[in-house]
Amino acid sequence: RVAEPCVLVLFGVTGDLAKRKLLPAIYDLGNRGLLPPGFSLVGFARRDWAHEDFAQVTYEAVKEHARTPFREEVWKQISEGIHFCPGTFDDDGAFDVLAMMLKEIDETRGTGGNYAFYLSVPPKYFPVVIEQLKRTNLAQGPSGSWRRVVVEKPFGHDLNSARELNALTNAVFPEESVFRIDHYLGKETVQNILALRFANTLYEPIWNRRYVDHIQITMAEDIGIGGRAGYYDGIGAARDVIQNHLLQLLALVAMEDPTFFDADSLRREKEKVLSAVQLPADLAAGTARGQYTRGWQGGEPVVGYLEEDGIPADSITETYAAVRLEVANRRWAGVPFYLRTGKRLSGRMTEVAVVFQRAPHLPFSKTDTEILGQNALVIRVQPDEGITVRFGSKVPGTAMEVRDVLMDFAYGESFMESSPEAYERLLLDVLIGDPPLFPHQREVELSWMIMDPIEEFWASQGRPEGYPAGTWGPASADEMLARDGRAWRRL
Ligand code: BG6
Repeated sequence: RVAEPCVLVLFGVTGDLAKRKLLPAIYDLGNRGLLPPGFSLVGFARRDWAHEDFAQVTYEAVKEHARTPFREEVWKQISEGIHFCPGTFDDDGAFDVLAMMLKEIDETRGTGGNYAFYLSVPPKYFPVVIEQLKRTNLAQGPSGSWRRVVVEKPFGHDLNSARELNALTNAVFPEESVFRIDHYLGKETVQNILALRFANTLYEPIWNRRYVDHIQITMAEDIGIGGRAGYYDGIGAARDVIQNHLLQLLALVAMEDPTFFDADSLRREKEKVLSAVQLPADLAAGTARGQYTRGWQGGEPVVGYLEEDGIPADSITETYAAVRLEVANRRWAGVPFYLRTGKRLSGRMTEVAVVFQRAPHLPFSKTDTEILGQNALVIRVQPDEGITVRFGSKVPGTAMEVRDVLMDFAYGESFMESSPEAYERLLLDVLIGDPPLFPHQREVELSWMIMDPIEEFWASQGRPEGYPAGTWGPASADEMLARDGRAWRRL
């Protein structure tokens, strides 16, 4: 899979995402021989930089964050195609220069008018940049060439703003040229959910309400909000993570098998399942939210959310969110899907746990099976990537004692190949024009339809419950499951 010669124009090159993920991912693609000949990178930002300065910034980002080993000859090839265009987003002149620069690159590097515009910018600038691309005729190339636009979340703040944003984008770029990044879909372990389910016979027959008791989807982070106060406050954990990453995970776990592994088939099935998602009838009992307070992490004291730089002292933004959803269809009716995410939790871990019903009858005595849990299949998305199956097994010895054991698949042990970083995979797909791993606008809207009533309810509830940093979140999240006679998995 190699892309045609093209230019990637990166808006927001001075941001954290560019430094930590995008620039290193470009290098890693180059190192794997996956960049097309003539590939060029144009950075656009409000900096007084020459091409060389941006090349130097890229070099440092690559040195610090690239996954693959540094090789001088790869870097040399990439750096020859690095350009910088200084300017602000409302500066017509800067975009005229950009248009000229791109034309020149086509002539000198044979990129044939193929451009991908990556908007790694705060949402308020989306409309301005899109409008500039339209004004300068950059959104549409001559026949035989392509133009694509890549947008980073947040895709709006709620259903209405998501629709507005989309109308604006689609007025300039046709839907098939719009690539919305949900970087979870670029993760190997997330793509593997589809392989696990649909490349095997073992799991699918029991992947339904007759055997599954419930599903837990967890994305736990130990970090706080770092330097992202401006983005995070007023957004909160549910909009930041549940609306996109966790609902995408739910969709992949719960969807029916796609006819083909192509964007249309996948999106169709994901949309079907997202539109079948049902909220708890009682939102107070079926949701929980929290905000971290001062605590300890890795033996160090850490401040509470309200004491973080840039956070107003009366902020009611949640840093922890949990919801109990159901999927109202024949496969899943009555099976709860518990989703949770939080910052400053006890550890960093993302997993999907499919917890099965207990055996209908145990011929063993109760004392012999007292500590027997439920069978579970746990997809470990990160950091310890793999899959674990938990089941009961006889304890060696003269008595018939049964206890839980774990059967483990670990990527590192089964594969020699290293996993590409999510952004590496997704950037390559953008350059190739391969859309299966990018959510369609309809999925984005359906996800907001799920979240809007929850957000509205929370907005009427005042302060979130506090939880000390370094713990597993607020008590109300535990109570939410306890009411169903269940408990969160201890991680
Ligand atoms: C981002 C969120 O989408 O995902 C961040 O905005 C979060 O708040 C990040 O920290 C986590 O990504 P990953 O790949 O480290 O799980």
